Amino acid sequence: MTRINDNFQRLPNRYLFSEIAGRVKQYQQANPKRTLIKLGIGDTTQPLSPAIIQTLHTAVDEMGQLDTYRGYGPEQGYLFLRQAIVDHEYLPLGANIHVDEIFISDGSKCDTGNILDIFGPNRIAMSDPSYPVYIDTNVMQGNAQILMESNQYQEIEYLPCIKENGYIPQPPATDVDLIYLCSPNNPTGVAMTHQDLEKWVKYAQTHHAIILFDAAYERYITDPAIPHSIYEIPGARAVAIEFRSFSKTAGFTGTRCAYTVIPKDLLGFDQEGNPVKVWDLWNRRQSTKFNGVSYIIQRAAEAIYTPAGKAETSAIIGNYLKNAKIIREGLTEAGFEFQGGINSPYIWVRCPGNMGSWEMFDYLLHNLNIVVTPGAGFGPAGEGYFRITAFGDATATRQAVAKIKAHQWIHF
Ligand code: MLT
Repeated sequence: MTRINDNFQRLPNRYLFSEIAGRVKQYQQANPKRTLIKLGIGDTTQPLSPAIIQTLHTAVDEMGQLDTYRGYGPEQGYLFLRQAIVDHEYLPLGANIHVDEIFISDGSKCDTGNILDIFGPNRIAMSDPSYPVYIDTNVMQGNAQILMESNQYQEIEYLPCIKENGYIPQPPATDVDLIYLCSPNNPTGVAMTHQDLEKWVKYAQTHHAIILFDAAYERYITDPAIPHSIYEIPGARAVAIEFRSFSKTAGFTGTRCAYTVIPKDLLGFDQEGNPVKVWDLWNRRQSTKFNGVSYIIQRAAEAIYTPAGKAETSAIIGNYLKNAKIIREGLTEAGFEFQGGINSPYIWVRCPGNMGSWEMFDYLLHNLNIVVTPGAGFGPAGEGYFRITAFGDATATRQAVAKIKAHQWIHF
């Protein structure tokens, strides 16, 4: 008799974005003539930039030549890309990160989930609402087992991100070991300041905790006062892992390339309380379970740091931020209350009246043919909210905003 991992049976039936895709498909099948505007999942729509495409072609040709062909690459990633990341991402911030501390991967979704492989049973804290991968992977791992009536897992310390605290997670009064933070935040679109992060670094130092800092959306920061990396905060090297991605930075959602930073000073503790380098464990994990991202894709990611790549990538991000502005202006005119869309591609909107998140999702799908993400899918504190992404096509975004503005909102 083969035993399964029972923890999987404690998960909701479907991952949030699979659930949404299922509902949308069902609606589309029943209403084939309706054209839907999809502003739900944060998937990029602009094509890869010319500098990236040109590099991809060159790298493909290299793979077809005897003298430039490459087989297995380093599990940690090619040095050329890791060096480019240090030079272009961390040195300008004054953050002291070494090439060895960068691990190239196929996505922050994978890394934020896989990282639990190297940690034992810990007391976990996470923002509520938050990216659903954090809670789902903790359920899979057995760190979250008892689902309470409040829709919260008993073992998890939820950090409410609500209007009253400006949607910023605050350190708890309790003792936690592993803390998920995401800034600029998915889904609320709110970015943490130096002071906000300093509080967390201090908490982690005091409690011997580790912060898992998801910075997948850092490229959308427009306010120069907002930190792009947790390593801009003194002391963070010894308490934080940072996840970053080329997905939203340069349209690699389909191409797949990201990286995780694990400083060598970061320590966890074994059963006897002896300190252990977290870097060693992740390096060991990756060497065994991962064979790296393809050479072709790593070359494409490196192209983002060429002058042309930088300019083209910034232009694409600028276009998404223009969408965000259009959405914000439209929502203001229509009388909605919302956050985000300034340092982030996400806009976090309060449902009108007393509408629930899924109710609003269905309402927008059926009446306006617009797909959004229901806030409740990100955690109990997301109930009563929905999320709009600025990653849509510009014309479709304008159409969606026009529909929202023209609609008679009797719910307010
Ligand atoms: C989202 O919509 O929250 C993201 O696109 C999901 C992801 O990056 O995996």
